[in-house]
Amino acid sequence: MKILGLSAHYHDSAAALVVDGVPVAAVQEERLSRRKNDAGFPVAAIEHCLEAGGIEPGDLDAVVFYEKPMLKFERILTMALREWPRTFASFPQAMKNTLGEKLWVKGLIKSWLGVPSSKILFTEHHRSHAAAAFLTAPTRAAAILTADGVGEWATLSVGRGERPRTCGEAGTKVDLLREIRFPHSLGMLYSTFTAFLGFQVNEGEYKVMGLASYGQPRFADQVRQVIRRTEGGAFQLDMRFFEYHTTAKRSYSKQFVDLFGPPRAPWDPLDPTSDEGRRHADVAASVQHVLEEILVDMCKALHDETQLPDLCLGGGVALNGVANARILRESGFERVFVPCAPGDAGCALGAALLADRVHFGNPDRDVPDHPYWGPELDAGELGRVAREDGLSVTEVASDAELLDRIARELHAGKIVGWMDGRTELGPRALGHRSILSAPHTAEQRDRLNKSIKFREEFRPFAPAVPTEHASTYFDLPPGGHRLARFMSGVFPVRPEHTGNLAAVTHVDGTARLQTVDRAVAPRFHALLEAYGRVSGVPVLLNTSFNLAGEPIVNRAVEGYSTFRRCGIDLLVAGRTIVNKERVAGRSADVEAKEAAE
Ligand SMILES: [Fe+2]
Repeated sequence: MKILGLSAHYHDSAAALVVDGVPVAAVQEERLSRRKNDAGFPVAAIEHCLEAGGIEPGDLDAVVFYEKPMLKFERILTMALREWPRTFASFPQAMKNTLGEKLWVKGLIKSWLGVPSSKILFTEHHRSHAAAAFLTAPTRAAAILTADGVGEWATLSVGRGERPRTCGEAGTKVDLLREIRFPHSLGMLYSTFTAFLGFQVNEGEYKVMGLASYGQPRFADQVRQVIRRTEGGAFQLDMRFFEYHTTAKRSYSKQFVDLFGPPRAPWDPLDPTSDEGRRHADVAASVQHVLEEILVDMCKALHDETQLPDLCLGGGVALNGVANARILRESGFERVFVPCAPGDAGCALGAALLADRVHFGNPDRDVPDHPYWGPELDAGELGRVAREDGLSVTEVASDAELLDRIARELHAGKIVGWMDGRTELGPRALGHRSILSAPHTAEQRDRLNKSIKFREEFRPFAPAVPTEHASTYFDLPPGGHRLARFMSGVFPVRPEHTGNLAAVTHVDGTARLQTVDRAVAPRFHALLEAYGRVSGVPVLLNTSFNLAGEPIVNRAVEGYSTFRRCGIDLLVAGRTIVNKERVAGRSADVEAKEAAE
């Protein structure tokens, strides 16, 4: 059976193809359209998935959309009427936004793909998140918690998933038992603080988490005033402090500002050593602290209720690696699984898997435990483009030679753009579209920030380490290795190594590490081993291969364009190495063209 899953129209559109119960391809639209957080109908992603599966739209048995647009419309309409007349000004725009293509998804799918209505299915947003988390995890039974800004109505749901005892049997269940509904939302709470701290919502949440490490949670009681715990371990926001439910213009109210002080303007410099900067860091630390407190309590209760050893986390809130690590340590669950794409992009895959296992009742199948579901790299493209551009290109005879050479260059302080195999699904570069560097010194981190990533200095870089060496350098609790597979947990760096891992150790002594399994990413694993042989430490700094504000690169030519616009020293694809040295005796017209540029 061939099932196409789609997510679109909020942020991070994506498509995923599942054939006979196993994913064939899954990719975010932004990687192909080159528009960051592309929320449009994922035409290019669909095309890629169909091509990867070698099928035409007519071969599809079903197309599944990741949420129910009518329910979402009902929520927007109900909120607008409930808050009338405060919503008067924003009502026409809200209706215009929702009444367009967002509501008529079925028509869009029909017109783009030419499939009949009977083949188009809709699943609920949080069921898609739950399926993306549970059906991709190597577990047969698990508790599930999903949390995000909002889907249709739900903003957080808890439940459990069960797969049949053996692969090949039917009877998979993904049951959500309870939910918390809009406007009460952990995701919206965090996003409100993201906006208050002057960062872009849906993009700057990482920055709040990074900034939190510089602060003390001295505003925790104030945060507990805006989000109150209710009987039974749930929570409720005091809506007097918020405005996101009445207008798209502002997420927090005057009372919010009275409580936390003036907001930070996006263009204001952020210096955690100044008084103002310290207040901002303390506000970030406080919302982070309360978020963790609530999540840990809810997961503890879920553990008591289900008595299961495994927990699957989904939704955008599951990108909070500091909270995930606390859940693993404190909730009672032995293993915590977060998929490579817990946000809405991963819902395309979740919706397709859910339709396969639950709606159609197809037999259970193991889903390969890796994030590499996107387009395959055409490594030959790099050599072609670089030669045309007059840069020096080296083709290395063997993989062993290439790895040894790159390891030595990294040890000498070179910054390497590394492209290999299929693109990652989800927001993190996990060794297939990565910028790599030696992790040892703070100067290297500053060089990356200033000449390549052009980003704020308080944001930490992440290390990658072979799974078998992870505990030597990082203090991982049981289960920590697996949580770190997709960089989903933040853990302490062992104190004896912080001095030698300064570029990847955050101000509070932690790191958001990636553990690399030989079986999952053999070439990246081999590079880490090669670097270990040269430097004595098999750890590399791994940051996503993109410049600020751009999507992660996909094709070799995009990697090349990024390489030419920033301070990356070497670029690698397959066995091709490019550096910025000019080839002697290049044609005069190329030189003249460059001089003109
Ligand atoms: Fe979501």
